[in-house]
Amino acid sequence: MKILDGKKTYLDIKEKIKNKLSNKNVSIGLSVLLVGDDPASEIYVNMKKNACRDVGINSEIVRLSSEVSESEVLEKIDSLNKDDKIHGILVQLPLPKHINEAKILQAVSHKKDVDGFHPYNVGDLVIGEDGFVPATPLGVIELLKAYDIEIKSKDVAIIGASNIVGKPLFSLFLNEGATVSICHKRTKDISHYTKYADIVCVGVGLPNLIKADMVKDGAIIIDIGINKVDKKIVGDVDFEGVSKKASYITPVPGGVGPMTIAMLLENTIKAFNLIEGELID
Ligand code: GUN
Repeated sequence: MKILDGKKTYLDIKEKIKNKLSNKNVSIGLSVLLVGDDPASEIYVNMKKNACRDVGINSEIVRLSSEVSESEVLEKIDSLNKDDKIHGILVQLPLPKHINEAKILQAVSHKKDVDGFHPYNVGDLVIGEDGFVPATPLGVIELLKAYDIEIKSKDVAIIGASNIVGKPLFSLFLNEGATVSICHKRTKDISHYTKYADIVCVGVGLPNLIKADMVKDGAIIIDIGINKVDKKIVGDVDFEGVSKKASYITPVPGGVGPMTIAMLLENTIKAFNLIEGELID
């Protein structure tokens, strides 16, 4: 069994980006919109900000109160869309209940949409055109590629069908030539899909959902879950049991999480290139 070390891969990517940017006299701007005071979101946006600082991307966290109106958020997005210093815009989710998430995500210019949540980018991914791809699923694919794991013709089972992770991951695997099943809340028996899969990806927020008897020998296991159990961060996979059967497995923490941050940095450079011309290769 080998560990898919997302932390190490993240550090390698970060180093490469840092070196690339150090030779260029460019000013790249990322704006992260944080609405309300969700404690997990607070941690995530700070991780994003620190990663930007490490590589030389200018990032700002725009904080809006949980009571802000939808139109005030839309106004802020409009001004960021028009701001020449800002190349990437990210709205941290979840948003407070009174704000229509779809409306907010559609307001972000698709050219600055480093999260890949705008319907134009969702559509580009589905039809296999170049666009912004959400950072977490992109991180999964890049982690597999970093370990030279072939995706083409593999049977993949994805557990979790969210717009942020499961659905874009489905398209990414399909575009890479895999055969993909996607399971969700209403799936009768997820083990029916996981048992035969070469690659199992799970991200639903249920600790120990995937157990050893649900995967085949030699399976590749990607754990996208983040749960707090007894003050410890764990994923959705029973790591102890499943790692005995897996050929590769991601740890939590230190697997997919850091890859998400790495892909945000890559997407921000992509946004810069899209807006300013291909200045960074
Ligand atoms: N909330 C949970 N995951 C994500 C993500 O990848 N991007 C944003 N913007 N919010 C999130």
